[in-house]
Amino acid sequence: MKQWTREERYRVLQSPEEIRDLYEKIRSSVYRQTYHVQPMTGLSSDPNGFALHQGTWHLCYQWCPWGAVHGLKYWYHVTSPDLIHWENAGIGLRPDRDYDNRGNHSGSGISVGDRLVFYYTGNHRDENWVRTPYTCAAVLNADGKLEKLDAPLFGPRDDYSEHQRDPKVVWNGEKQKYYIFIGAQTADGRGCVLVYESAEPLSGWRFAGQLKVPGYETFGGMWECPYIVNISGKDVLIFSPQYTRLPGRAESTNHNVYLIGRMDYDTLTFTPEGPYRFLDFGFDFYAAQGAANVDDPDKAILIAWIGLPDNHYPTEEEDWEGSMTLPRELRIRDGRLLQTPISGIEALRGAQIVPDGTLPGACELEIEIPGGGDFDLNLFTKADGSGGLTMHYDAGKRICTFDKRGMDKRFNENVGAVLELPLDHALNTMRIFIDRSSCEYFLNDGEATFTTHCFPTDRESGYVISDGAKLQIWPMNASVTDEFVI
Ligand code: FRU
Repeated sequence: MKQWTREERYRVLQSPEEIRDLYEKIRSSVYRQTYHVQPMTGLSSDPNGFALHQGTWHLCYQWCPWGAVHGLKYWYHVTSPDLIHWENAGIGLRPDRDYDNRGNHSGSGISVGDRLVFYYTGNHRDENWVRTPYTCAAVLNADGKLEKLDAPLFGPRDDYSEHQRDPKVVWNGEKQKYYIFIGAQTADGRGCVLVYESAEPLSGWRFAGQLKVPGYETFGGMWECPYIVNISGKDVLIFSPQYTRLPGRAESTNHNVYLIGRMDYDTLTFTPEGPYRFLDFGFDFYAAQGAANVDDPDKAILIAWIGLPDNHYPTEEEDWEGSMTLPRELRIRDGRLLQTPISGIEALRGAQIVPDGTLPGACELEIEIPGGGDFDLNLFTKADGSGGLTMHYDAGKRICTFDKRGMDKRFNENVGAVLELPLDHALNTMRIFIDRSSCEYFLNDGEATFTTHCFPTDRESGYVISDGAKLQIWPMNASVTDEFVI
C-alpha cells in the first residue's frame, strides 16, 4: 500500500493536466462503476449538497483528486435530471481560501427561491496543524458553478472540541426560520449535534443550543453528517456515530443509524419514539444524506457513501476508491424506515436474461422466495460453485448472515467479514443491484438493506441459489457518464 506524505495528500490541484494521466489510467479498471456515481479520479467519500433545484438534481461528493487517500478534500459536482442518469459538472468547491485551506468538508444544499445555496465546512489548519472548522456558504451562479461567500457564516464554539462540521440546513415553515444542524463532539468527547438558526439563509446565524436527544447523551464519540427530515408526520434523525462499537456490527467503530421521533424546535429536543436502528446492515455504508426540496410529505430521498472511514479497498492499488450508493426512497411503515431503490431505475434494465448460473458485471436480480424456509444465495462464486459473497437466511431466527470471506479479494476483515441482518418478517423478496464493485440488497420490499463493496475477479462470476426461488436477472445499462470535467 502506498504511503503518502502529508505534502502529497494535501497538495493543491493547480491544473487539470496534473490528474489527466490518472484519469486515463483508472478508466480501464474492471472495477469502475457503470450506474453509480464514483470519483472521476482519486477518492470519493461523503455525499454533499444534495438538492433539487429548478428541475435538476445537484450532488457533490467529498473528493481527493490524487489517489485513494483521505487528504485535501474538494467537492466534486455532478447533476442529474432524474436521479438515475448523472453527468460530471466539474469541481464544486476547491480549498482556495484561508478559512478552508485544508479542505472543503461535508455539508448540504437547499433551493431557496431562484437560488441554490450550499453549506459546507471550511477546514482550516494553522502551521501547527491545529484545526478550526468554519461553517461556510456558496451559491450556484448562472454558469452552474458554486460561488463562495467572502467570509464564513460562523466559526466553531470553543466550549466544544475541534470536531464541529457537516452543516445540514433545513427550513422550518412554522418558525419561518432556517436551522443548521452541525455534527459535533462535546469537550469531554461525546457525540452530539449543535443547532444554529436564522431567518435568512446567508446571514444572521446565531447559536440556538445543543440538540437534546434523551437517552443518547453518551452514544459514540462524534456524530458525523447529521440529517433531519419529516416523513408522514414523523421526524427522522439520521447520523453517523463514530469512535464506538455497537452490538451486531463486529469490530466497526463507524456506523450510520436513525431515530424516529419528534423534533421540538422550541426546546431543541429530539424525542425518540423507539430504539436506534441501523440504516443499512452492510459492510460499507456511511455518511448518508437526504436530498433537500423533494417536496413530498411522505417520502425522502437518500444517498450514501459505499465505504467507511479508516478502511482500505483493493482499488487503492489502482489509485482510486469509493462510490455513491443508488439513491433510495425512504418511507415510514410500522415505526420503521422502509427503503426502496429509486423509482424509475428499472429503465436501466436491458433485455431479461435466462438465468444460467453466471452474473453479468452490472445487473439487477429480483428474487421471490416462497415457502418461508431457510434460503441461500451466494454471489460471485467460482465455476464449481464454491466461494463468493454468501448469504444464508435462517428462517427460524429470521436472520440473514452475510459472509465475504469466500471472495478472492479480501479486505477490511479486521473490521468484520461476517455480519447479521435481522428481519421482522419472513424473507420473501429481494432486489439486488450489482455494479462492477458494489452490491446493494433490498430485502422484503425495503424492510432492510445491505450495502457492500465487492471486487470479483475473473473467475468469480457465478452464483448459487436455493431451489424453489424464482430468480429474474436483467443486465443494467450504464447511466453515469465518466467525462474528464474540471
Ligand atoms: C465523514 C467525514 C465528515 C467530514 C468529511 C471529511 O466521512 O469525516 O465528518 O466532513 O468526512 O472528508
